[in-house]
Formats: sequence, structure tokens, C-alpha cells
Amino acid sequence: MSASGGSIAIIGAGSVGSAVAYSLLLRQVVADIVLVDINHELCQAQVNDLSDATFLSNVRIRQGSVQDAQNADIIIITAGAKQKPGDTRLNLIDRNYKVLKSILQSLQPIRNDSILLIVANPVDVLTLFAQRLSGLAKNQVLGSGTLLDSIRLTRILASKLEVADTSIHAFVIGEHGDSQCVAWSTATVHGTPLLKVLPLTDNEREEIATTTRKKAEAIIKVKGFTSYGVAAVTSRICEAIIFDHRQVLPLSHWQQDLDCCLSLPAVLGRDGIISSFPLHLDEEEQSFLSESAKGLRKVIEEYKE
Ligand code: 2OP
Repeated sequence: MSASGGSIAIIGAGSVGSAVAYSLLLRQVVADIVLVDINHELCQAQVNDLSDATFLSNVRIRQGSVQDAQNADIIIITAGAKQKPGDTRLNLIDRNYKVLKSILQSLQPIRNDSILLIVANPVDVLTLFAQRLSGLAKNQVLGSGTLLDSIRLTRILASKLEVADTSIHAFVIGEHGDSQCVAWSTATVHGTPLLKVLPLTDNEREEIATTTRKKAEAIIKVKGFTSYGVAAVTSRICEAIIFDHRQVLPLSHWQQDLDCCLSLPAVLGRDGIISSFPLHLDEEEQSFLSESAKGLRKVIEEYKE
């Protein structure tokens, strides 16, 4: 695939931001990637390192200022504190809201057709705050959400069924965090309900959902952070935007009826969230989703700057 003429700015040159840049570079999503960080020395070192990989693709990677980011087609925000072992993602809200607010203030005026992609955690709460602070239309501000969790879930199911991941459609929905839930009743394998071809007991389903939900925690305990999975997911999201794929993906975006941002399937294209995609949940799944939304609204209502 040859890189589109577009440009992507990544704000945050740490473990996630640099992995996102590397993934975008290898996938040749755009011709121009700008890396921005308040730690200019780190940012320059990341750019210097990444530039040694550009022989693999015709992509230009450079260090830039927030002003350079203002005119990017997609602005990705990875900057912020990371979960430490024992932290929940929601524990990061105080530190990362302040980082987000400062970035969005310095980004103004953002090009009115740019897409703002939030990757930093707690991604659902930060996506909502970014919608309020950015001045962009809600459909242009989205979060990576539970796409990563859905890919983790799909991997487990694919290995149990011994089929390719691409033959499975299974969604984790709600918060990208402890209150997420698996929409088992909607999962399919090439159009056949998954539970018909993989009859799982309640315990087996709970075990798979827990392994999916706790995968990041297990990695962070040893490595200190996660980066490659979320970077690959971010690159996939950018491809769908830049090439207007109109893929249906579980992404954190505004939910009018739930009065918060969380992940449900949405059609993703060059204008961002084109539309939410209807998902017929069973009663238990609907109740889990309502609880997830309630928890997110509580954090937002109680957060005082
Ligand atoms: C992840 O799930 C930490 O949110 C990040 O890998």
C-alpha cells in the first residue's frame, strides 16, 4: 500500500506514541508523521531512531511543534501518565485531564476537518472531555476504546476455534477498563452465531472475558506498560480514517442515550464516526453496558478541575 499524501501528528513521544509512529510508518498510512512532545530531547531521539526505519517505506517522520499538529489530518493524543501495577485506568483522570486540556489549548485553532483520536487513558472520559474542549464536531473526536480489547478477545476465540481472527466478529463494549463487557450474543464466526460453534459454559465465558479484561494489567506488571497492541490498533483506526474504509469498529464515541463516551460498534471513515452501528444486545449485556455508562458518568460528574 503506498502512503496517502496525508499527515498524522502524534502528541506524546513515549512508549505508546513512538510505537504508534513505528506502526504507521511500516503500514505506510500517510506520507508525513509529526511527533510532538514537551520533552524535546526525547522526541528528537525517538525521531532519529524511527528515521532509521524509513528505508522500509516512503514515509517522512519529523519532530514538530504543537503548531505543526494543528494542520494534520489526524491528531493522536497518547501523552499522559501510564497505569502502574495496581492502578485502574480511571485512577489516571486527574493527571491526564490536565495534560489533555493543556494540549488542546495549545492546539487551537485545530483545522476544522481534522480528526482527534484519543489513546491516553482513561480513554472514554478523556474522549468526552476532548469533545467538550476541542471545538470540533463530536463525530470528529473519538477514542481507541475497546477495539484493543475486542482484538484480544478475538485472538483467544480464534485459537480455540482454530480459525483465522478475520473470520470472527466479536465485540467488547463499554468502558475500556474494568467495567467492559463481552457482547457474546452478537459474536459470529463467518455469519454463524459463535456460541453455536463454540458452546461455552458460563464459567468458560467469564474466564475468557476476565483474561481479556486483565491482559493489560498482566503485561504492565512485568514490562511496566503496554505499547505494541494499542499502537497496532491506533494504526488500524488511522487507516480506516485516511482511506475512508467505513469499517465497523468498536470505538469510544459519544452515546446520546447514555450521556457519555464509551465503545460500541461505529462506522469509521474520513469524517470520523460516520454513524453508530446497531448492536442487538441481550438483557444481561444491556444491563452491563448501562452499568459501565453509569460508572463513567459518575467519574465525569465528580471530576472537579
Ligand atoms: C491497554 O489496554 C493500557 O489501555 C492500555 O493496553
